[in-house]
Amino acid sequence: TILVLDFGSQYSHLLTRRLREFNIYAEMLPCTQKISELNWKPKGVILSGSPYSVYAPDAPHVDKDVFKLGVPVLGICYGMQELAWINGTEVSRGDKREYGPATLNVVDKESPLFKDVDHSKVWMSHGDKLYGLPEGFKVIATSENSPYCGIANEEKQIYGIQFHPEVTHSEKGKLLLRNFAVDICKATQNWSMKNFIDTEINRIRTLVGPDAEVIGAVSGGVDSTVAAKLMTEAIGDRFHAILVDNGVLRKDEAKNVKETLTKGLGINLTVVDASDEFLDKLKGVTDPEKKRKIIGNTFIHVFERVAAQIKPKNTDKEIEFLLQGTLYPDVIESISFKGPSQTIKTHHNVGGLLDNMKLKLIEPLRELFKDEVRELGEILGISHELVWRHPFPGPGIAIRVLGEVTREQVAIARAADHIYIEEIRKAGLYNKIAQAFACLLPVKSVGVMGDQRTYEQVIALRAIETSDFMTADWFCFEPAFLKKVSSRIVNEVDGVARVTYDITSKPPATVEWE
Ligand code: XMP
Repeated sequence: TILVLDFGSQYSHLLTRRLREFNIYAEMLPCTQKISELNWKPKGVILSGSPYSVYAPDAPHVDKDVFKLGVPVLGICYGMQELAWINGTEVSRGDKREYGPATLNVVDKESPLFKDVDHSKVWMSHGDKLYGLPEGFKVIATSENSPYCGIANEEKQIYGIQFHPEVTHSEKGKLLLRNFAVDICKATQNWSMKNFIDTEINRIRTLVGPDAEVIGAVSGGVDSTVAAKLMTEAIGDRFHAILVDNGVLRKDEAKNVKETLTKGLGINLTVVDASDEFLDKLKGVTDPEKKRKIIGNTFIHVFERVAAQIKPKNTDKEIEFLLQGTLYPDVIESISFKGPSQTIKTHHNVGGLLDNMKLKLIEPLRELFKDEVRELGEILGISHELVWRHPFPGPGIAIRVLGEVTREQVAIARAADHIYIEEIRKAGLYNKIAQAFACLLPVKSVGVMGDQRTYEQVIALRAIETSDFMTADWFCFEPAFLKKVSSRIVNEVDGVARVTYDITSKPPATVEWE
């Protein structure tokens, strides 16, 4: 195991991710971790980047016992500046920030860290720089703007690099991390998704104990289904999944999820039809943010009510844990430093539940990225179709019916969406598109059908390509495909007289219309 000490860089989790890509397990802990309190010995330590400056009064610093472990250490960006700074070398603001690509020039051709990475493009992102070398160190690489691009104390096996090998913009960064972990630290390459499952199941069993019970919401999406399946493998029926039908789910969704989760995956699931309650509360509301709030709050309300009815079998005990399928990208603020101690905050998909219910949180997918969760899902026997489903927003069709959300409007949007997705699947395009859906616009437009004047609403279709949903481009369908979908929707969905295709990228638009 490699220990990654996190100083709060936005890239820190990519380090553990890259190491997993060549089967090395890395554990990430806050940079303030006391080494004497670790009950295992790492094969090597990586100090991450950070938004801080090492010389700032509130900057986080590493426990110096790291260097007494006698294992190799690699400092990345801030991590390197920290190595230098604690060894008495001046670090301060450079004349200009260095941000973007640079070419690596390896000076020490024998350095095991840079094996096969010379002359590659590396990604820089720093404002501070070293003004000298700490004692015992030498320069092993430079770049045009960084005379101290790579430094090493070979005797002690301490390395520092100014660039970020963990981002994909660093062409051979992955190889460099492999050189460090495998060749220098001699870490064992035995991590696999199968091992992860075993380890995680054991961890869950230990945490939950022999008789406590766990509750969790499922949505029919990949994250909550994978988390629920993992929990079921670990503790069986002591895990209670709840699906709340909020009245703004996709066509036949509650029925299909029930079928897949209970029959297909053996998950102990309760489905609650709360659609009237949700739609009642949404009456007259047109503001998108209000819709989101109402749906979020009503969800908490319903979930708590149902949870209170699910009593652990044969006991008067309460449910103790709440499962959440939070992934790494959902963890918006991983670590924040407040004075000497750090607090870890996580973003809750089901925000508010914990405060009210006094439940302890379990997040088995917290370290993983989406593609890893998909791989995990496939190994757990979840169908390919579910594992590769497009994302669906928590507020559901309520934010795809612009204007007031009524049962009738939801039914129109739902029917159009169903036809659209069906055609996308038939055309073999589903997996080429990151997300597709239909929106119902609250405007009427004139048409003519069978010699009759019509005056009905408009459906807008959206399909996007993206890797991270932060930026997105619209998908280029063949005209014949759009023709077919348009004609089916107008012919088959009552209340729609016109179909348009959304050709706006994100930014400036967002993926959803609301
Ligand atoms: P936007 O519209 O922000 O969407 O560009 C980016 C991605 O996030 C999804 N999305 C949501 N998911 N609750 C969710 O669980 C929400 O309130 C929400 N709003 C947007 C959206 O579907 C897209 O995948």
